Amino acid sequence: MSVLSNLEKFETDASTNQRIITLIDKLKEVRRLEREEYLYILNNTSQKELEYLRKSADSIRLENYGTSVYMRGLIEFSNFCTRSCNYCGIRRQNQNIDRYRLDKDTILSCCEEGYNLGYRTFVLQSGEDKYFSDDIICDIVNSIKKKFPDTAVTLSIGEKSKESYQRYFDSGADRYLLRHETASRKLYEHLHPNDMSFDTRMQCLQDLKEIGYQVGCGFMVNSPTQTNEDLVEDLLFIEKLQPHMVGIGPYLSHSETPFSGLESGNLLQTITMVSLVRLILPDVLLPSTTALGTLNSKGREEALKSGANVVMPNLSPTEHREKYEIYENKICTGDEAAHCRGCIETRIIFAGYEVDMSVGHHKTRGINNGMVRS
Ligand code: 5AD
Ligand code: FES
Repeated sequence: MSVLSNLEKFETDASTNQRIITLIDKLKEVRRLEREEYLYILNNTSQKELEYLRKSADSIRLENYGTSVYMRGLIEFSNFCTRSCNYCGIRRQNQNIDRYRLDKDTILSCCEEGYNLGYRTFVLQSGEDKYFSDDIICDIVNSIKKKFPDTAVTLSIGEKSKESYQRYFDSGADRYLLRHETASRKLYEHLHPNDMSFDTRMQCLQDLKEIGYQVGCGFMVNSPTQTNEDLVEDLLFIEKLQPHMVGIGPYLSHSETPFSGLESGNLLQTITMVSLVRLILPDVLLPSTTALGTLNSKGREEALKSGANVVMPNLSPTEHREKYEIYENKICTGDEAAHCRGCIETRIIFAGYEVDMSVGHHKTRGINNGMVRS
């Protein structure tokens, strides 16, 4: 039975909050809600309404992408970081971590292994590591695109100047992930030290869009002191930015951070946010994140059934995997790339979807931003 016909048969009873059902239908129709309306949903959704929200999100995803789940090969190429985000395990003050960098040849062999496994998108992610100058990054991106011309390269290497972003783009980078972390200035300042600025973060995302990247923002759910009002700010921000990708994961605690011991995030609330974002942006590329899989053994499958349509298995060399520990108990750190490829495929099929190894660009390819990539 299709999800749509399921939805038609959705049965409400006296215990269902009809206002929420009406708001979900409205969001599906007009793709935006008022601040108070989002807040009402977040404050009052329980199991029945969440079921309706998830099915609505799944039906929108099916309309836009069918059952395809896009696979991206993730290469975590350096865990050096000059920053000190209060939640992150690779923050510079953490001395209880073995730091590593991959050189260009190693990165290229990770890509080759990924290419042979069928991957056509490589996501290069690192801490903010000064060793990797713009020249080095451009050379790496350029070499990947030369060797594997039918692939897309996504960068996720933090805050840079617009000139640097432009240089990476000109070298062939197609997409850029920079989570905004939270759209609430006050919470941003609680999560980050004084030398990091909310305005700079927002400016970076603006710059990336103007250059013509397919841009990914994103946020953590249930980060310390976060309220539903803060999460509403994330939804309003996403309405405004209109990103091509949105990474959403639960906050997970790490003992070597100032937030050590604070409670980790919640599966249902994270999934609620995934579904709401799918309704706001019907054709967004929405990953089912590793953090969700770490929080709950079925977390990634649940996200796929709630509107998510991307997974990012790891292609980094296994000897370094567990050193990229942004949060504790990260899954898949001991697994070979081929194992992850098979494991995730089984999970995707079991959840009722299918693996799509194509390059999987966003429908607009970023061209609604300005420049067009030929
Ligand atoms: N818990 C959950 N997500 C985290 N990230 C960093 N540290 C944590 C944590 N402790 C996320 C941030 C970052 C992305 C790479 O990982 O959102 O942007
Ligand atoms: Fe890596 Fe399951 S995705 S082992």
